[in-house]
Amino acid sequence: MWFHISRAQALIIFSLFTWTKACMHERRMHSSLTGKRDTTPLQPLNPEETILVDSISNTSISEWSYYYTHGAHLAGKNQSMAEWTAERWGENGWNSSIVSYYVYLNYPVNKSLSLTYSNGSVYRPLLEEAVLSQDETTGYPDAIPTFHGYSASGSVDAEFVYVGRGQQVDFDRLVQLGVPLEGKIAIAQYGGPFRGLKVKNAQEKGMIGVIIFTDTAEDGDITEANGYAAYPDGPARNPSSVQRGSVEFLSTYPGDPTTPGYPSKEDSPRVENPEVLPHIPSIPISYANAIPILAALDGYGTAGNEVNRTGWVGKLNVSYSTGPAPGTTINLSNFMEDTYAPIWDAIGVINGTVGDETIVIGNHRDAWIVGGAADPNSGSAILVELSKAFGKLLSQGWKPKRNIILASWDGEEYGLLGSTEWVEEYIPWLTDTAVSYINVDVGTSGPWPYIEATPELHSIATDIMKKVLWKDARNMYDVWLEYTQGSIGVLGSGSDYTSFVHRGIGSIDISSGPGATDPIYHYHSNFDSYHWMSTFGDPGFNIHKFTAQYVSLLVYNLTSQDAIPFDLPNYGIQMESYYNDLLSLVNSTTPILDTSALQNAIQDFKTAAAEVEAQKEQAISTNDPELLTLVNHKFRDFQRGFVSQGGLPNREFYRHLIFAPGLDTGYAPTTFPGITEALIAGNISLADEFVQKTAKAILVARDTIKT
Ligand SMILES: *[C@@H]1O[C@H](CO)[C@@H](O)[C@H](O)[C@H]1NC(C)=O
Ligand SMILES: *[C@@H]1O[C@H](CO)[C@@H](O)[C@H](O)[C@H]1NC(C)=O
Ligand SMILES: *[C@@H]1O[C@H](CO)[C@@H](O)[C@H](O)[C@H]1NC(C)=O
Ligand SMILES: *[C@@H]1O[C@H](CO)[C@@H](O)[C@H](O)[C@H]1NC(C)=O
Ligand SMILES: *[C@@H]1O[C@H](CO)[C@@H](O)[C@H](O)[C@H]1NC(C)=O
Ligand SMILES: *[C@@H]1O[C@H](CO)[C@@H](O)[C@H](O)[C@H]1NC(C)=O
Ligand SMILES: *[C@@H]1O[C@H](CO)[C@@H](O)[C@H](O)[C@H]1NC(C)=O
Ligand SMILES: *[C@@H]1O[C@H](CO)[C@@H](O)[C@H](O)[C@H]1NC(C)=O
Ligand SMILES: *[C@@H]1O[C@H](CO)[C@@H](O)[C@H](O)[C@H]1NC(C)=O
Ligand SMILES: *[C@@H]1O[C@H](CO)[C@@H](O)[C@H](O)[C@H]1NC(C)=O
Ligand SMILES: *[C@@H]1O[C@H](CO)[C@@H](O)[C@H](O)[C@H]1NC(C)=O
Ligand SMILES: *[C@@H]1O[C@H](CO)[C@@H](O)[C@H](O)[C@H]1NC(C)=O
Repeated sequence: MWFHISRAQALIIFSLFTWTKACMHERRMHSSLTGKRDTTPLQPLNPEETILVDSISNTSISEWSYYYTHGAHLAGKNQSMAEWTAERWGENGWNSSIVSYYVYLNYPVNKSLSLTYSNGSVYRPLLEEAVLSQDETTGYPDAIPTFHGYSASGSVDAEFVYVGRGQQVDFDRLVQLGVPLEGKIAIAQYGGPFRGLKVKNAQEKGMIGVIIFTDTAEDGDITEANGYAAYPDGPARNPSSVQRGSVEFLSTYPGDPTTPGYPSKEDSPRVENPEVLPHIPSIPISYANAIPILAALDGYGTAGNEVNRTGWVGKLNVSYSTGPAPGTTINLSNFMEDTYAPIWDAIGVINGTVGDETIVIGNHRDAWIVGGAADPNSGSAILVELSKAFGKLLSQGWKPKRNIILASWDGEEYGLLGSTEWVEEYIPWLTDTAVSYINVDVGTSGPWPYIEATPELHSIATDIMKKVLWKDARNMYDVWLEYTQGSIGVLGSGSDYTSFVHRGIGSIDISSGPGATDPIYHYHSNFDSYHWMSTFGDPGFNIHKFTAQYVSLLVYNLTSQDAIPFDLPNYGIQMESYYNDLLSLVNSTTPILDTSALQNAIQDFKTAAAEVEAQKEQAISTNDPELLTLVNHKFRDFQRGFVSQGGLPNREFYRHLIFAPGLDTGYAPTTFPGITEALIAGNISLADEFVQKTAKAILVARDTIKT
């Protein structure tokens, strides 16, 4: 996965248009401290639900986890793991096959980094993570080096500048402070925007290379500086840990960079020099390696605490000065091997009795490392167990009403490749039949459940929590409530739901992560391993088990319930709250933008949603099959209305006009993105155009559900 919710994000409100998300993270910070106890009764299960829940075992999940985390499985490198996955599903009664795509990838060849001080002495960091005797996969001979997927190749030598988290506002501040950027190398902190956008922003300022480091500011209180031992001896971050990851410019479009908008087959036409790939080299480094580099800037340029940007100063023992330090240079070399190679999605099918309604559930399989115990293979292990639970139901003659598709995506890490290409291939059928997409990526990296979802799924997603017994025999709903204060995230990007959402298919992303006092999760590092998971992340694999039970019950409900259990009035309520967020931005512009068309469209949607809700109740109480089909088809189709053909300005891929990943955040969402981003750019005429387009889209959705 790409969306990493860190402790640091809890503290940072990086811009006006992501404030909702930031506030939510802040609540996460304090969540484990409230000590609130349970109040919600556990809901009873029907016999089929009981079969599902009882057939899910932490022991078999730990076996699947062991398998997935003991062999390299970088995108396009492990066909046998795709086949193994399809075979497990097949044994459990699913019709399973492999679908392959032929995509552009690059793999690391060699790299080096050296820092030369003005007095001529040189610091040359190792750039690799520690091999730990306790954690066998850190020492595997096929361990994958630290690198950035889709980085450019090159060798550069120049003075360097610390650029904070590398958002556009950070660079604007550096320009304001008179810090020279052109021709320099950037050193940027992880956190905030998606890493590819840090590289994009640096490149646009004429910088020639980027180094991105992990700061212990991400770790809240769980640091060595605070007296916690580092992994493998304790819960704190291992100082050598490095966050690998893709530097594709995700917020422009995901998927194979060379085939925007269409599936990648061996003979597909290819775009030359895709706009979503960087031209300058970049590498990731650990905090241990970052300290001397940052320290070399101490006393040069503007000191960190004078830059006056939130999130600029981290927790390392340096001043986070901008630099450059005259005569102190970095030589950065990074060489990658370009290739067009197959990737393999495993696809499993259970056909429903109703042919034209489909629920898709997916998880990616590829990882940057041999392990990947949390990202993504906690999800992979959970889905194998889910396939087994449904196999049990199938063997008793059960059939779902709706088709169920199970997907194990390859190439997610480079840029959501496997899911995007599959959606691009099957979009006509998906447009006709898809009801929802359920994503499980980092199923478990800690004990606290967390969801992001489109609004029609909020009610059923929280209702099902009331059927699951969580850690310490607590109801999942109460644990989730304690952690999130009842807040469900808005989907931005960073995982495989993206292509579904932006084709008008509502989605939910399900995960469990660490709270403020839990062990540090080593995202995209060798230490996201089976050993870490079984000693720190989820000893006993019971969070995996509870999550698998939850996902199975949700899939069961969505595929078995006569009436699709959507809550459309909540879509109206959520749009109204996004509208209120928008107003505070609108009020600060001159001339004040007229948003009445949007406001009216939301009201019209709310009216129609109340009517279709009544129609649903009537269909249920009369059990009238024709009325049920009518309502179900409205539910299936309405969200297609929110997507606009032309997409958002300069990013046609992103078509959903109610939410999208922020142009300069990549992970975090923006609501009413066409309007919000035009306002932030100060383009009132464009904002006005998107008020009209967004209102029209809402009315198209309204027309679908109108009675
Ligand atoms: C693929 O993954 C499996 C399971 O982890 C492992 O046994 C196998 O060696 C891997 N194959 C390759 C080519 O790395
Ligand atoms: C790194 O790889 C490049 C490209 O293959 C090659 O030209 C160069 O000699 C290599 N450098 C080292 C130090 O191996
Ligand atoms: C050169 O400067 C660096 C940084 O100030 C310092 O750590 C190092 O000891 C110096 N080396 C020599 C040989 O003076
Ligand atoms: C940077 O270092 C690489 C590898 O050590 C070397 O081949 C290259 O010549 C250096 N580049 C410059 C511009 O000094
Ligand atoms: C940073 O903010 C402080 C307090 O507002 C102010 O005194 C200082 O001049 C600012 N620094 C810069 C470089 O603008
Ligand atoms: C922080 O850095 C300063 C200057 O390099 C050094 O004197 C001090 O001992 C360091 N503090 C810690 C806690 O490492
Ligand atoms: C799998 O396909 C076969 C025939 O192609 C069909 O009879 C069977 O019902 C399918 N199984 C499921 C679970 O959909
Ligand atoms: C399952 O459904 C798909 C899509 O409607 C159809 O193509 C396929 O033939 C069906 N398979 C079976 C076994 O009914
Ligand atoms: C499964 O959970 C039980 C109960 O918590 C525990 O005793 C057992 O060790 C776990 N199994 C594994 C393989 O972790
Ligand atoms: C789905 O969940 C709803 C809400 O909890 C419940 O009323 C309904 O009975 C469930 N449907 C099935 C088929 O279990
Ligand atoms: C925006 O301005 C309108 C009209 O002046 C006012 O009614 C509304 O309360 C303001 N909203 C916000 C969030 O400032
Ligand atoms: C506003 O956006 C439109 C459409 O992208 C563009 O043509 C126009 O130049 C922009 N206006 C300003 C003032 O940036």
